[in-house]
Amino acid sequence: MAKITKLEDIVSLCKRRGFIFQSSEIYGGLASCYDYGPLGVELKNNVRRAWWKSVVQMRDDVVGLDCSILMHPMVWKASGHTDEFADLIAECRKCNVRTRVDHLAEHPEEHTEHIALDAAMTRTHDLSNKTCPNCGAVGRFTEPMPFKLMFETRMGANVDDSMTLYLRPETAQGIFANFRNVLDSTRVKIPFGIAQIGKSFRNEVTTKAFIFRTREFEQAELEFFCKPGTDDQWWNTWKELRFNWYVDLGIRKENLRLREHDTDELAHYAKACVDVEYKFPFGSGDWQELEGIANRTDYDLRQHQRGMRTLNRWFESKGDVTKIDLAADAQDYQSGPLSYFDDENKQRYIPYVIEPSAGIDRSALAFLVDAYDEEEVRGETRNLLRFHADLAPIKVGVFPLVKKDGMPEIACNIYDHLKKYFNCFYDEKGAVGRRYRRQDEAGTPFCITVDGQTKEDTTVTVRQRDSMEQVRVSTDNLLTHIRERLEV
Ligand code: GAP
Repeated sequence: MAKITKLEDIVSLCKRRGFIFQSSEIYGGLASCYDYGPLGVELKNNVRRAWWKSVVQMRDDVVGLDCSILMHPMVWKASGHTDEFADLIAECRKCNVRTRVDHLAEHPEEHTEHIALDAAMTRTHDLSNKTCPNCGAVGRFTEPMPFKLMFETRMGANVDDSMTLYLRPETAQGIFANFRNVLDSTRVKIPFGIAQIGKSFRNEVTTKAFIFRTREFEQAELEFFCKPGTDDQWWNTWKELRFNWYVDLGIRKENLRLREHDTDELAHYAKACVDVEYKFPFGSGDWQELEGIANRTDYDLRQHQRGMRTLNRWFESKGDVTKIDLAADAQDYQSGPLSYFDDENKQRYIPYVIEPSAGIDRSALAFLVDAYDEEEVRGETRNLLRFHADLAPIKVGVFPLVKKDGMPEIACNIYDHLKKYFNCFYDEKGAVGRRYRRQDEAGTPFCITVDGQTKEDTTVTVRQRDSMEQVRVSTDNLLTHIRERLEV
């Protein structure tokens, strides 16, 4: 039975072993920004790869994209982010620290995250008996106010013609903006999906829980386009597929659940949404969102179709692009450039979209937490990460038992051969028991040791991380032996 992990254990292991560091640490750090170290970057690459393999590579109905982070400001106007992407916050009059109102709620179901600014202002929130999580003052909060989450930047060298842009708060809009390009350049037919992994940015109010909520993070998003009427069925399909992805990569089922959103919690674009939640070792109630699977209906394509038309009108009138009223252009444009023509049924429609949207950093944290274990071995504590082999940053450690008698040369040859196939690590420093422990802590599934017997019969020991069981394997058979067990 694995130990219940504390977040501090994970943070400490991540720093000690080079998984994750605070950004700009030499200057005191930058709040809620993190850097991935040598082991962390391998873990993160593996999480990305596992997602891409499952969502794109193994499917015949999904293609990939890699869009730029900076996009035309009309994208965010049309998507609703310019007007509606905000958290409701209140400021403590004593310490001036701002807190999300939903984080003060007694009932976590009172949701005020990512809400429409108008809706935020019409709700009443009694904060008179609420305690400030920063300084402990009671009843000192200001009236709630919306706080916009998109980071602004400016593009262009000339003052006169530079314009305000946003760092994208989700990767999804790059996919919608390229819907027509993908239709015209590939042979995809509905139902089909477009997937993307990339950085997103949000000026989050509350951060703290390590890499769980950061201001710069990576998303893995799929927009799956389907015929209206088939959306509920596809939503159920993706719920199941995405839940199983985490289980197949080693997360224990008892630490995962699906939770459907209440209507007042739904994002402005969603008809329905279910979260895959993981039992993280922090926060109120522990269960926290890993991924959302939303039914975005035809909202985005319809909005962009309106946006394209409105922009054309704006070119004629020259106004402030962010003040454009899309509602004034409320026709449906069922036949516009972002519609789809179904050859078989001779029908034109705007497809519905099912969107599984995962966080790469958040998933990496869940995989770290779930894999972390401590156990007593011969009176000593063994820390280990029981990673699924696909996620393990290093697949094989290679050691000579001692630094003499030709053992390092044989071990180096094995290492040079195996590193062509998987990420390996060569280590000849210190007692072999310590080297095993270091690899256990890095989550390395196998360690190979060259010893005195190797010269006699060309066998080495292969030690398995979880069971610590050691078997002798002929060097000729080593690649096959490891490959079969790693299933690569
Ligand atoms: N396109 C839909 C969308 O962006 P979301 O629920 O806001 O939906 C999807 O984000 C996923 O992105 C979340 O489930 C989470 O894994 C990740 N995510 C969102 N905000 C994050 C943050 N500030 N830090 C780390 N991950 C975040």
